[in-house]
Amino acid sequence: MTAEPFGRLDTDVKVREQMLPYCRLKPGDIWIDSISGHRVGVLDAAAPGHIRKMFETEKATLAIQDPPYNVAVGTDNTQNLFKRDLADYIDWSICWVENNLAVLSQDASIYIWLGADQREHFQPLPDFMLLMRRYPELVSRSFITMRNQRGYGTQKNWMAVRQECLYYTKGSPCFDVQAEYTDIPKILRGYYKEVDGRKTENLERGKSDNIRAGNVWVDIQQVFYRLHENVPGCYAQKPLKCIERIVRASSRKGDLIADFFSHSGTTLIAGEINERRVFTCDIDPIFAELTIRRLEHYRKTGKTGFQFGNPFPEIAVTRERRELADNAISPEKTRHIQTALF
Ligand SMILES: C[S@@+](CC[C@H](N)C(=O)[O-])C[C@H]1O[C@@H](n2cnc3c(N)ncnc32)[C@H](O)[C@@H]1O
Repeated sequence: MTAEPFGRLDTDVKVREQMLPYCRLKPGDIWIDSISGHRVGVLDAAAPGHIRKMFETEKATLAIQDPPYNVAVGTDNTQNLFKRDLADYIDWSICWVENNLAVLSQDASIYIWLGADQREHFQPLPDFMLLMRRYPELVSRSFITMRNQRGYGTQKNWMAVRQECLYYTKGSPCFDVQAEYTDIPKILRGYYKEVDGRKTENLERGKSDNIRAGNVWVDIQQVFYRLHENVPGCYAQKPLKCIERIVRASSRKGDLIADFFSHSGTTLIAGEINERRVFTCDIDPIFAELTIRRLEHYRKTGKTGFQFGNPFPEIAVTRERRELADNAISPEKTRHIQTALF
């Protein structure tokens, strides 16, 4: 039996009905954090008025966006409910990308996580890349791939284990690659080069014993229920490590970061830990509430998530509910969906 108290919070109608009265924000509301100045809203990323309301006259130097990917995988047919027609998805993406442009400062970075459906000509990734060409102020900088431990499609295809992240800049924002070494030790020798007339090899030339992050990230643990950072019910949670890597490389202390698809609040926690302010929102009041609770829990306990604890103690976790979570949306399956869907 799974240790998670409940399953996917977007589709479990019964749990949602019980949780909604305990969500402090209603659609359109914005919570302002009195300690670090973060903001969390129940807002629509695609609605210009919503994003304007959250930012007022403030500008962000970094945006980290992790929208729904429009990709359904595995055997869970409910995922198809979330799929839109590709043209629709791109029209919707144009709205939230333009809302980003409206709040980015003159020198800024934007990172966008996306999926590519290998059964449907890799949509929406290539279409999204093309749409980004509309904005001459954005310069394409890197195409990051993060490796997931779990994948799908091993029997008749290469196992799909990748998550894609596009990196663009506007103006000349900061970039501190020195902050970003992996914890993978350098073990391969070679790559000789002459320095001051002496032949040196890469291990002695490098400043660190570890490998730099580069744009293929193989050192990041996917979130599952045994990790402290886990937020139960959040089927699409990104590992804190990958978001902190972006935060540290592409922003400075005191900077403002935008995230329009908060979900479990990973960007908010990364900002809090690294002394950046974060303005974030989710269209779903339950995820906005979880985002605020995760921050409060972090401040109280120093833990970055709830592991398999219950972030909504107002809702009784019965054995039946745990079994339901296990059958319908076990962590294994949930994360399996996450790899491609979100
Ligand atoms: C992939 S998840 C983001 C995961 C997040 N990075 C994390 O680590 O927890 C996408 C989120 O976008 C939210 N969402 C979907 N459409 C939205 C919209 N139009 N405006 C704001 N949020 C939206 C969903 O409710 C979901 O929580």
